[in-house]
Amino acid sequence: MRRYLILTLIIIVLAGALWAAEGQRKHPVYVGVKVCANCHQGKGIRHDDLPDQFSRWLASKHATAYAVLAKPEAKKIAKLSGIPQEPQESPMCLGCHATGAHSEAWEKDQTFFTEDGVQCEKCHGPGSEYIDIAIMMDSEAAMKAGLMMPTLQDCMGCHQVKGSHVAVHKLPKLDMEKALKDIAHPTPGIAEVNQQALLDTVASNFNLTTEDLIGRRRDSDVARARQVAMYILKKQNNCSLTEIGAILGGRSPSTVSHACEKIALDAKNNPILKRKVQHIQKKIYTRQKDKAT
Ligand code: HEC
Ligand code: HEC
Ligand code: HEC
Ligand code: HEC
Repeated sequence: MRRYLILTLIIIVLAGALWAAEGQRKHPVYVGVKVCANCHQGKGIRHDDLPDQFSRWLASKHATAYAVLAKPEAKKIAKLSGIPQEPQESPMCLGCHATGAHSEAWEKDQTFFTEDGVQCEKCHGPGSEYIDIAIMMDSEAAMKAGLMMPTLQDCMGCHQVKGSHVAVHKLPKLDMEKALKDIAHPTPGIAEVNQQALLDTVASNFNLTTEDLIGRRRDSDVARARQVAMYILKKQNNCSLTEIGAILGGRSPSTVSHACEKIALDAKNNPILKRKVQHIQKKIYTRQKDKAT
């Protein structure tokens, strides 16, 4: 009887350890803004000359939020708040002026630096699990892996009016609607993925030629590849149904609409198709990036 009890106990402990290890592995960690910049900068995503997310952020005050804690005003604010430490070492100040201030050391990769202030991951969540390109390109998968899209309410966690601050810097209250516009960093949506590259990549992944895709053939292989091309055009380039129909050899908007819905649904139920679509998206993206740099 006792033997069984001990055995059961051992099993419970082992199972617990396994579960904990699994939990830890999946726990996202901060990778730092420079890792995001690998793709979200200048010649990264799709466009060569438009303002990109990294430069936008770098020009914002969020990038200097840690540095300002060294200003003489900071010492005054700290004093008013009854904080004895240097502001740059106070977890309280760092909570709003940096990223991951309340996280453990193991929750930060070697590429992460507190000095970079209020970084992408402060607003979008720690990145280790979602920065893989195939996951990043799939909004739903990225959200599951911890990506967050903040709202005005998330800004208020830091941008609430603080007596200690107003007393020292005497700045007027920020108009947060305007503030949101000031830091906006949208990805321009239209026609940025080179259409030819997109069609070539889809065709070659289905062992077809681009002419097959835009031509008259209607056998199931070609039809499938054509639907995938339509789906990616819609998703990546945000083209209208009419535009997509025209690109793919004059198909009607309703055909395109049906194709996009079908691939979205099939990819949900069919992991092989899903991987194939992701693989193609990744290929197009890398191709473009190689060309840009
Ligand atoms: C390997 C390249 C790569 C890296 C690294 C990367 N991203 Fe992305 N990210 C992308 C691509 C590609 C997209 C999709 C762009 C699109 O389709 O508009 C994207 C989309 C996003 C989006 C929009 C998601 C949506 O559903 O609208 C956010 C937010 C984002 N990335 C934040 C980050 C942050 C924060 C980091 C760093 C922690 C990061 N990314 C690192 C490539 C990358
Ligand atoms: C609840 C979030 C929050 C906390 C905690 C916080 N700050 Fe701030 N701080 C802000 C925000 C947001 C701003 C931007 C201006 C504003 O809204 O007042 C700011 C601005 C400042 C500025 C002015 C920067 C400039 O551009 O001149 C200084 C200095 C500063 N904070 C110091 C501190 C110090 C020191 C502490 C710790 C005692 C601290 N802050 C704690 C959110 C915070
Ligand atoms: C102060 C918070 C904040 C910081 C810091 C921040 N973002 Fe964002 N980001 C937002 C908000 C807010 C949105 C808009 C969300 C929405 O549209 O629902 C957004 C949207 C995005 C998008 C989607 C753009 C689109 O067209 O839909 C990408 C990509 C992105 N951010 C990447 C980044 C990267 C990369 C960094 C760091 C270099 C970064 N963000 C830093 C708050 C932030
Ligand atoms: C982690 C806390 C934090 C969050 C979340 C945050 N901010 Fe900030 N923000 C700051 C700090 C700190 C400063 C001041 C930095 C400095 O002065 O260098 C600041 C400065 C700004 C400024 C410049 C203000 C000025 O006086 O010029 C704007 C605009 C801004 N934030 C907008 C936003 C918006 C919009 C959001 C939500 C999408 C947001 N912030 C989320 C901490 C935060």
